[in-house]
Amino acid sequence: MDAHVSDLTKAIEERRSIRMFLRDKPVPRDLLDEALALAMRAPSNSNIQPWRLFLATGPRRDKLVEALLERASRGYPATVGLPQSFSALRSEIGALVYGSMGIARDDSEGRRMAQLRNWEFFRAPVAGVVCMHRDLGPADSLAVGMFLQTLVLALTERGLGTCLQVSIAHFPDVLREQLDIPDDLQIICGLAVGYADPEFAANQLRTPRNPVGENVVFLDG
Ligand SMILES: Cc1cc2nc3c(=O)[nH]c(=O)nc-3n(C[C@H](O)[C@H](O)[C@H](O)COP(=O)(O)O)c2cc1C
Repeated sequence: MDAHVSDLTKAIEERRSIRMFLRDKPVPRDLLDEALALAMRAPSNSNIQPWRLFLATGPRRDKLVEALLERASRGYPATVGLPQSFSALRSEIGALVYGSMGIARDDSEGRRMAQLRNWEFFRAPVAGVVCMHRDLGPADSLAVGMFLQTLVLALTERGLGTCLQVSIAHFPDVLREQLDIPDDLQIICGLAVGYADPEFAANQLRTPRNPVGENVVFLDG
C-alpha cells in the first residue's frame, strides 16, 4: 500500500482489507487521533453520533487477543446464514481470500488457522471494537458505518491498513470483560489497525464489485 495517498479518490481505490499486519510496528498516536477527528465529522440522524469505539493497544490488546484465541480455539460459530441470492458472492470471496493466502479449497486445517487469525486481529497492534447503544435502530447503524468508512479512508490516506471484522463480535462476553464495555452497548464488529505486512500476498488482493447497474436503479420519466 502506498505510504501517503494524496486524495479521497486515491484512498478509496487504495483501501482494502488487510489480513496480516506488522505486529511490531506501532501505530503513531497522532495519526490515529487525526483520523478519528475526521471520522467524527460523519453525519448521523439528529447528529446523535451513535458510534462508540474501544481501542486496545499494548498489554491490554495482548490480553484481549489471548482471551479471544483461547475462546476461539474451543470452537467458533459457523458464518451467519445469508439469503440465497447472496451466497454465490460469499463463496466467491471465500475462494479469492483463501486462494490469495495459498490455501486450497479442501485444506480445512489451513482454513481453520487462517480463520483463527481473526481473533488476533491479524496481528494488528491496534484492536478496535465497534459498538452502538442497544436501543438504536438500523438508520443509526448506517451512521456507525459512515463513521467507520471515514475512519478507514483517513487511516488509508495516512499509510495505515485496516480490516473490519464481524468475527470479533462472536464472543461479546470476552470483549465486555476485557475492555469494560457496558451492557447498554451492543457490539457490532471489530476493527484492526496497523501497518500492512508487505510480504503477505493476500494483502494485495483486489476484490471484485458488481457493475453499478446491478445495485443502482435509475428511473427517469
Ligand atoms: C461489517 C464488515 C465485517 C467484516 N468482517 C470480516 C471478518 O470477520 N473477517 C474478515 O476477514 N473480513 C471481514 N470483512 C472484510 C470483507 O470481507 C471485505 O470488506 C470484502 O471482502 C471486500 O474486500 P475489501 O475490503 O478488500 O475491498 C468485513 C467487512 C465489513 C464491512
